[in-house]
Amino acid sequence: MSEAAVKTLAPVMCIVGARPNFMKMAPILRALAQHQPAIPALLVHTGQHYDTDMSKKLFVDLGLPTPDINLEVGSGSHAVQTAEVMKRFEPALDEHKPSCVLVVGDVNSTLACTLVAVKKGIPVAHVEAGLRSYDRKMPEEINRLLTDQVADRLYTTERSALANLVREGIAEERVVFAGNVMIDSLEASRPHARSPAETLAAHQLDSALIQHPKGYGVVTLHRPSNVDDAETLKSLLNVLATVAKDLPLVFAMHPRTRSNIERFGLKDLLDPARVAVLPPQGYLEMLGLMGGATLVLTDSGGLQEETTALGVPCLTLRENTERPITVEQGTNTMVGLDREAILRGVAEILAGQGKRGRVPEYWDGHTAERIAADLYQWLGD
Ligand code: UD1
Repeated sequence: MSEAAVKTLAPVMCIVGARPNFMKMAPILRALAQHQPAIPALLVHTGQHYDTDMSKKLFVDLGLPTPDINLEVGSGSHAVQTAEVMKRFEPALDEHKPSCVLVVGDVNSTLACTLVAVKKGIPVAHVEAGLRSYDRKMPEEINRLLTDQVADRLYTTERSALANLVREGIAEERVVFAGNVMIDSLEASRPHARSPAETLAAHQLDSALIQHPKGYGVVTLHRPSNVDDAETLKSLLNVLATVAKDLPLVFAMHPRTRSNIERFGLKDLLDPARVAVLPPQGYLEMLGLMGGATLVLTDSGGLQEETTALGVPCLTLRENTERPITVEQGTNTMVGLDREAILRGVAEILAGQGKRGRVPEYWDGHTAERIAADLYQWLGD
């Protein structure tokens, strides 16, 4: 791109909406600013997540700037949330006329902003493209499929994603293997991770709980398929209670999970002497908790990747994963929701037979730089 073209380059509109977007966008914004020449950017927060715990604290931890635009959509059904983002994003697009819209991940805000932009002829770049669980009951799978179909530039985190995209008829020229931008955040923040004892103390919990000869496990659960049905949630909490007899647990609880536990009357299943229940944690707290853990039990996509990067064994409480590299090369094992499989997985790790894994290709802390360099070239073309 010529110097003159750079001077007139309209900003890249960078979209975040929900918690897992923030750790992906922070390094991208830094890389756009540090690119020579700098690539102008505008940060748009849709407001899908809005709490201090789910949003504001992560902005601080990750060094994200205050959003230039906040659409403040809040919670709602999928239709309402997606439609509200679309309605509120359109005038912002008209006003700022960006050179492109950059979306990350697979949340409702990702798809909503993509749809608005492509229909206005504004190019869309999708970071974390091509991941597939092949489970269309997952709202994220629908968001991934549709975003990738219409986005113009697709940045992938693992090589298997290209095959998924090609199978869906997407031209290979649109796809760039850039690596995993989440790991950029992880590498940048690792030295600042908060100690688990400090995190517990901040919630008036005694850190003696996690000073156990076997260490402690970290738990997160928030997928609707795991926490929205009373019987499923009850059976998962019962398994956790059994695990906790051997290994103390720290459960960072998503608001969806907390409200369902209360609604279904399941509060007493977790013994506070064995399970430390915390509100959703900041990024530095989660890094510290995961880094020090004997194992992680989760249904999160991000944690499957972060535990692989940290070399901590992860048991994923789902039947499928859109991130197969974490199983093939990393520390992740899919245990589903079956009680025996979960308990067996835990027992193996406690017996020292947990996966050690290795860090996948391009999960090296430099993905955002590769994205910025490619974006610059592509926008120039
Ligand atoms: C969303 C994403 C999911 C991601 C998850 C991480 C979609 C389809 N889902 O799911 O992919 O893994 O975020 O958290 O986009 N709530 C609060 N405070 C908030 C936000 C939500 O209390 O700041 C409560 C509300 O009661 C809300 C519920 O949590 O109804 C669920 O929030 P929602 O944004 O609908 O979906 P998540 O389950 O968070």
